Amino acid sequence: MEILDGKKISNQIKDEIAAEVAQMKDRGEKVPHLAAILVGNDGASLTYVGSKVKACERIGFESTLVKMPSTTSELELLKKIEELNKDKEIDGFIVQLPLPKQIDTQKVLLAVDPDKDVDGFHPMNFGKMALDMSTFIPATPFGILELLERYNVQTQGKHTVVIGRSHIVGRPMSILMGRKGFPGNSTVTLTHSHTKNIDEITRQADIIISALGVPGFLKGDMVKEGVVVIDVGITRVTDETTPKGYRIVGDVEYEEVSKKASYITPVPGGVGPMTIAMLLKNTLLARERHREKAAL
Ligand code: GUN
Repeated sequence: MEILDGKKISNQIKDEIAAEVAQMKDRGEKVPHLAAILVGNDGASLTYVGSKVKACERIGFESTLVKMPSTTSELELLKKIEELNKDKEIDGFIVQLPLPKQIDTQKVLLAVDPDKDVDGFHPMNFGKMALDMSTFIPATPFGILELLERYNVQTQGKHTVVIGRSHIVGRPMSILMGRKGFPGNSTVTLTHSHTKNIDEITRQADIIISALGVPGFLKGDMVKEGVVVIDVGITRVTDETTPKGYRIVGDVEYEEVSKKASYITPVPGGVGPMTIAMLLKNTLLARERHREKAAL
C-alpha cells in the first residue's frame, strides 16, 4: 500500500509556483493576485480562507481577503463581486461557500467574471470543462487528478466510483475521470443519497473517490483488494483531547480500508492541501491569460 501524500506533493507544486513567481519578479512583472470573499463567521470557512491567504504569502502572490458580515444582502455581495471583476490588480478571486441563506449561490456564481473564476464554478467554465476545453478546473477535483498523475496511478479502463454529487467535487470529478486522456479514460459510476446497494457498487470499484462528508462511511468490507481510495471528507468532530477541541475526520474507515488498498489518501494531509495548491495554480493561469489578453 502506498500513501498518496498530498502534503508532500502540494509543497512541491507550491515550490514550483514560487520559482515562477520569483522569475516574474526578476523580470519586473506584476505577480499574481488572488482575492477571497468570505461572508459570515463559519469556523471551517475561516480556516480554509486563512490557509489560502497564508499559502499566497508563502509563494509570493499578492492576496486580498474581503470579509463581509453574515447579514450581507445578495445585492451587497453582487456589488462587491462587480468591484473585483473590474479591479485590474486582481487576477482571480473566489467566493467561499457555503453562503448565508438570504443569498442565492447560483446568482453569485454567475456574477463572477469567467476569466477571474479560479474556482471554475461559473457555468461557462464548468461547461468548458465538460467539453474538454481548456479552462479553470475546480481546485479539489484538479488536485485529485494531479495526485493520480504524479503517483502514476493508472485510470484507463478502470471502474471509478464517485460517492457524492456536489457541484464542488463529486459532479466535476465524475466528468473528469471519464474524459479522454490521463488521468481519465475511466468508466464512471456517480453514486448519491438515492443509490441502492452502494456497497455492491463500491466492491466493484478499482478507484473510489468519496466526497460525502460522513465520517467513516466507507468500511473495509465495502472495497476490494487493490482498490485506490481518495478520501475527500473533512468533517470536524469534537475531541477535547486536542488543542483545538476538534479533529478532522475523513469518509473512509482508514485502518480497515488501508489494509486492502493499493493507494490511499490520508485525512488530513491528502486531498485538502492539494486543493489549496491547485487554487494557486489556477491563479497563475489567470495571470497568464490576462497578460495574453493585454498583449492582443
Ligand atoms: N467551500 C468548500 N470548498 C470550496 C471551494 O473549493 N471553493 C469555494 N469557493 N468554497 C468552498
